[in-house]
Amino acid sequence: MCGIVGAVAQRNIVSVLVEGLRRLEYRGYDSCGVAVLSHGEPRRARSVSRVSDLDAQVRDTHLEGFTGIAHTRWATHGAPVTHNAHPIFSRDAVALVHNGIIENYESLREMLRGKGYEFVSQTDTEVIAHLIHSMYRGDLFQTVREAVKQLHGAYAIAVIHKDQPHTVVGARQGSPLVVGVGQGENFLASDALALAGSTDRFAFLEEGDVVEITLDGVKIVDGEGVPAQREVRVVAAYGGAVELGPYRHFMQKEIFEQPRAITDTIPQGDHFDASLFGEGAADVFSGIDSLLILACGTSYYSGLTAKYWLESVAKIPTQVEIASEYRYRESVPNPKALVVVISQSGETADTLAALKHAQSLGHKHTLAVCNVATSAMVRLTELAFLTHAGTEIGVASTKAFTTQLVGLFVLAVTLGKLRGHVDATQEAAYLAQLRHLPAALNSVLALEPQIIAWAEEFARKENALFLGRGLHYPISLEGALKLKEISYIHAEAYPAGELKHGPLALVTEAMPVVTVAPNDALLEKLKSNMQEVRARGGELYVFADADTRIVSEDGIHVIRMPEHYGLLSPILHTVPLQLLAYHTACARGTDVDKPRNLAKSVTVE
Ligand code: G6P
Repeated sequence: MCGIVGAVAQRNIVSVLVEGLRRLEYRGYDSCGVAVLSHGEPRRARSVSRVSDLDAQVRDTHLEGFTGIAHTRWATHGAPVTHNAHPIFSRDAVALVHNGIIENYESLREMLRGKGYEFVSQTDTEVIAHLIHSMYRGDLFQTVREAVKQLHGAYAIAVIHKDQPHTVVGARQGSPLVVGVGQGENFLASDALALAGSTDRFAFLEEGDVVEITLDGVKIVDGEGVPAQREVRVVAAYGGAVELGPYRHFMQKEIFEQPRAITDTIPQGDHFDASLFGEGAADVFSGIDSLLILACGTSYYSGLTAKYWLESVAKIPTQVEIASEYRYRESVPNPKALVVVISQSGETADTLAALKHAQSLGHKHTLAVCNVATSAMVRLTELAFLTHAGTEIGVASTKAFTTQLVGLFVLAVTLGKLRGHVDATQEAAYLAQLRHLPAALNSVLALEPQIIAWAEEFARKENALFLGRGLHYPISLEGALKLKEISYIHAEAYPAGELKHGPLALVTEAMPVVTVAPNDALLEKLKSNMQEVRARGGELYVFADADTRIVSEDGIHVIRMPEHYGLLSPILHTVPLQLLAYHTACARGTDVDKPRNLAKSVTVE
């Protein structure tokens, strides 16, 4: 998704801006650009290719300047062509970059056309540049404060004006923006990660904030126009965490990092304690009667998995909703429900809006399960459980998902204990299983060579069906999502018992059917479903637990998983599906870490 970097310094800032864009590349984009003030004029370079191409352009054209802004664009309004790439100029005086969507851009465009402004792009962003130009009376900060009052929608912007050579002004509403504080230089970015290497001190702007950065100052006013201080925090973990190392892609690296990420996420100590979720969690947990989980994408599937744990271990009614649906439907609020948002980034626009919607309906108790401590979701919720996946670069989520599952399992056991459904013996057993999980994961990762052999077959297919039952149905959904995201093979997942109600019509010899087959109470039912597939000529690819007695035979290919892993089995069964998607995508030669049309952090609706 779109990314912003801005800087004011006493040195040529172009390499910092381009490096910032490079660090944001993983979020997904289709064009990029940079603009600096150079000898009192804004100059820019833009590319519909990669940041490396932009880098070559700025070197070739000797683009240099002490003040500048840069952008990666993920097209919403207007195709990914050069004239729509940011920075967008207004009359060679204003240069502006924007994340988000301006909903009233059509009426603003008409108004500005009436004032003689010519529009050269199809973007909604161009109205902001012209609006600021039309209102400028010598003070960019003041102008932006006035101009944003006319914008409806979501935005984070960074803007420069040729008459203010040492100033960048930013504003945010609905899209993230952070200030990086340096020594005699200051920065703006949509994600602190962009500025790793330049600073480790960040101030996170709040909704409605407008900020001015100069060489030695940061001035912020809030949405009411009142001067505001935002705490400057040291966020050291960003540096260096984005190196690829010996792996071919970040996704592969992140799949193999899961034992470490899970170890870091499993709580220390001998007990599951409410305090793991923040101060006051015990009181909150004892007053709730249900859970409402809101999330998008892969995070939604971790919510679906958690529902099984929460209802079986903690015996607490749990509803899971896609955030973008929940936020727009009429629902019946239950003030005794705990609203749980699950998000890797903590910035996903739909999940954030769903959280605010729930709060506006009177839901007081909220919990974020999130991978980014400084994110908007963690700041907006009463309680939080932080996963420790580390920076995830691949657009397709892997280690973020399995660490979310760990956090949600800890939540289920903690609530089960408080509600009298988990005794001390069970608690110790769950803890022991969690602690053994990284070792169990290592033996699943060792299956990679067998999975590569399957991936070569899959690479020649155009469709695939995934089957799972019970606790493993959401895992089959996640497996299908991974495959379609990165290999572009159409994949669907079904609870195996539902096969006969429709998808069986699709089964022919050309349809590989991936089956998640743990040795649980539903195994015999699942075996019958597999026979239904075989009887129609479908080829089964089964990830079967060691003791399932499912064996390879004509039309049934089996990769044997280690021993059945009880309630935590979904975490183990996720990993071979990640590897299958990854190696299939490699065999098809797709851009694994940056699949077409997708973005890592979806900060627009
Ligand atoms: C995007 C990403 C997915 C992710 C989803 C939700 O679609 O490509 O990998 O699952 O957003 O993101 P979140 O940060 O809220 O978990």
